[in-house]
Amino acid sequence: MKTIGLKVFVTMTAIAVVFLLALSAQAQNASETLYKAKCATCHGADGTGSAMGTKMGAHDLSTALVQGMSDTELTDIITNGKGKMPKYGASLKPEDIKGLVAHIRTFKK
Ligand code: HEC
Repeated sequence: MKTIGLKVFVTMTAIAVVFLLALSAQAQNASETLYKAKCATCHGADGTGSAMGTKMGAHDLSTALVQGMSDTELTDIITNGKGKMPKYGASLKPEDIKGLVAHIRTFKK
């Protein structure tokens, strides 16, 4: 009886861990999909910048110049725009923008 209880506990814990991992992977995927749909045209799938984006003045998002900016600064640029960078404050939810900032952090070399 005791061992069955332990097995159930271990199984439940394993299920919970897998579930949580899947959830965070899903959030990361959603941000990646959003980035590819809305941002990659100018910033490139890997953040280094498309030919068009670079011409418009976008900086390589993987460099220290951009990675050195705080989350608040990045959030502000995405929300309110900057130069030729369009603003997304009206079309995206704050959680989406937060996810995009996290996705930009994955470009860091
Ligand atoms: C139409 C092209 C275009 C699109 C689409 C675009 N950006 Fe930009 N982005 C720019 C340009 C140009 C700049 C540089 C602005 C400046 O410094 O004058 C920029 C700047 C930035 C910066 C600050 C770093 C830098 O290069 O100065 C971040 C962060 C950023 N964009 C994120 C995003 C995200 C996230 C999205 C998608 C939601 C997005 N951008 C969509 C053109 C674009």
